[in-house]
Amino acid sequence: MITRIAFIGFGVVGQGLAEILLEQKNDLKNQIGFEFEVVAVSDKMKGSVYNEVGLDLQKLLELVKSTGKIDEYPEGIKGWDSLKTITETNANLIIEVSWTDINTGEPAITHIKTAIGCHKHVVMTNKGPIALAARELISMAKTNGVEMRFEGTVLSGTPAINLGVNNLASSKITKVAGIVNGTTNYILTEMEKGLKYEEALKQAQKLGYAEADPTADVEGFDALGKIVILTNVVMGGNITKDQVPCQGITKITSQDIDEAKKESKRWKLIAGAELKDDGSVEAYVMPKKIPLDHPLAAVSGPINALTYTTKYLGDVTVIGPGAGRAATGYALLTDILDIHRKISR
Ligand code: HSE
Repeated sequence: MITRIAFIGFGVVGQGLAEILLEQKNDLKNQIGFEFEVVAVSDKMKGSVYNEVGLDLQKLLELVKSTGKIDEYPEGIKGWDSLKTITETNANLIIEVSWTDINTGEPAITHIKTAIGCHKHVVMTNKGPIALAARELISMAKTNGVEMRFEGTVLSGTPAINLGVNNLASSKITKVAGIVNGTTNYILTEMEKGLKYEEALKQAQKLGYAEADPTADVEGFDALGKIVILTNVVMGGNITKDQVPCQGITKITSQDIDEAKKESKRWKLIAGAELKDDGSVEAYVMPKKIPLDHPLAAVSGPINALTYTTKYLGDVTVIGPGAGRAATGYALLTDILDIHRKISR
């Protein structure tokens, strides 16, 4: 069975996935038995194209790189918006990579509900919908008999959610904590090397780590969304982001960084959640001064790290990229292949 894919959004992450799909097309078919065509791409700014027999990904990527537009693709139907693309194309898998709005989850929540409503599988890296409406969306997907995956919402392609939900299922996770935002970790690392806050932020934006509105990163809201996801999806909690104390890195000055250095410490933005005796889960996001000999102190740049504290294994830590074009594109690929394995069983 050929998977027919539609992209909703075609920014850094969507293009990252498209590049991997293009590069791996033959290997995915020969090694995993996964065959696909990208039939549609719809992006609010770049335009849209639909061809029921499939688009030439190389041509599409070159076009977007050179013109920033999709509309000029030589064949196919143009001008369909996101909802028409979801409902009326022959795609059976929707890649939801529109922009993240951590306060409303829109327009992504509507995209996902529409896709599920017309029995199409969905994968996303968008934190908004899962941070705000995980239970509702998971249950809706189940009722409609479709698969929904969102591994890339936390730690991009570095295993975090599936690790917790699958590999560590029944290991009795009591705590999770780590560095879950690449932009702030990059900024703190660069500031320690002497760069000014604004310059470091600009670099993080240029490298594709930061959110469209980097306030979400530096004020801790991105990390907040991720810890709410981990709490509700992996730890069985049921919290909203308003219940989580959240502080970002905007108040950390170069002087604070120098002082920490003198104490053999290093600032890190830590997000964590802990299971309480009454079964509830409490979460937080806050900058902490970490001793240099602590494992998290060595996690630098856009690299993220997450430690699950479990009853049977003790601490299990993953360290890896938490942001970036290829790393986040790869997260979507792992979800796509997971769905492929499940539905082709
Ligand atoms: N802006 C996010 C970060 C992207 O810097 O970690 C990945 O979620």
